[in-house]
Amino acid sequence: MTLPLETPRLRLRAFQMEDAADFAAYRSDPLVARYQGWQAPFSLDQAHEFIAEMQTTRPGIPDEWYQIAIELKQDGRLIGDCAFYILPEDGQQAEIGFTLTRAYQGQGLATEAVTRLIDYLFDTFQLHRLRALCDVDNRASSRLLERVGMRREAHFIENFWSKGEWRSEYGYGLLRRERNNSTKDHPILPEA
Ligand SMILES: CC(C)(COP(=O)(O)OP(=O)(O)OC[C@H]1O[C@@H](n2cnc3c(N)ncnc32)[C@H](O)[C@@H]1OP(=O)(O)O)[C@@H](O)C(=O)NCCC(=O)NCCS
Repeated sequence: MTLPLETPRLRLRAFQMEDAADFAAYRSDPLVARYQGWQAPFSLDQAHEFIAEMQTTRPGIPDEWYQIAIELKQDGRLIGDCAFYILPEDGQQAEIGFTLTRAYQGQGLATEAVTRLIDYLFDTFQLHRLRALCDVDNRASSRLLERVGMRREAHFIENFWSKGEWRSEYGYGLLRRERNNSTKDHPILPEA
């Protein structure tokens, strides 16, 4: 199974140069960038450079993040991205990440994309485990991770230097044999 991937409302596909303006626009939104590794504003030149780099690689090379474009089928517009990288140590685990343009949040679109991404990763790369990290204050992200069935397994205290301060993160995990289970089957660590 390879890209593109379909969901009822979305197409998950490789980035194209035509995405650069929309990509730079949502990466320049301070609220979208707040808990992410890049700095807003994010220029059109940076977007072109990023997409050019993505076009030289392919999904599933261990130790390399691969960014998948999230396109709204209805109008072909780029509305976000999801990403993964396979851990080089064993090649059987991957970390995932995701971003949605603010105007398209709150409609279940990220849930739709990430659910599809999880299936793609388990089916295509025969992975044993997926993981995700999220800032403890990024409630939209932790809610999403729990909605797609990931288990909160860790609370790291000031483990991550980001934008001038030490931040704390939750660590999430999902085993291959647990996929399609709902959150109610997993004990979630209580709020800190
Ligand atoms: C993390 C992020 C992708 C979550 O986006 P989101 O819009 O909250 O997630 P979804 O698209 O799945 O939408 C879910 C919300 O829509 C609501 N919703 C409306 N219609 C829905 C539907 N048909 N199906 C599911 N949810 C629906 C849900 O109730 C939920 O709201 P809630 O969280 O207030 O309960 C988004 O906040 C984002 O891009 N943040 C910036 C980047 C970032 O921090 N990424 C994570 C780094 S770890």
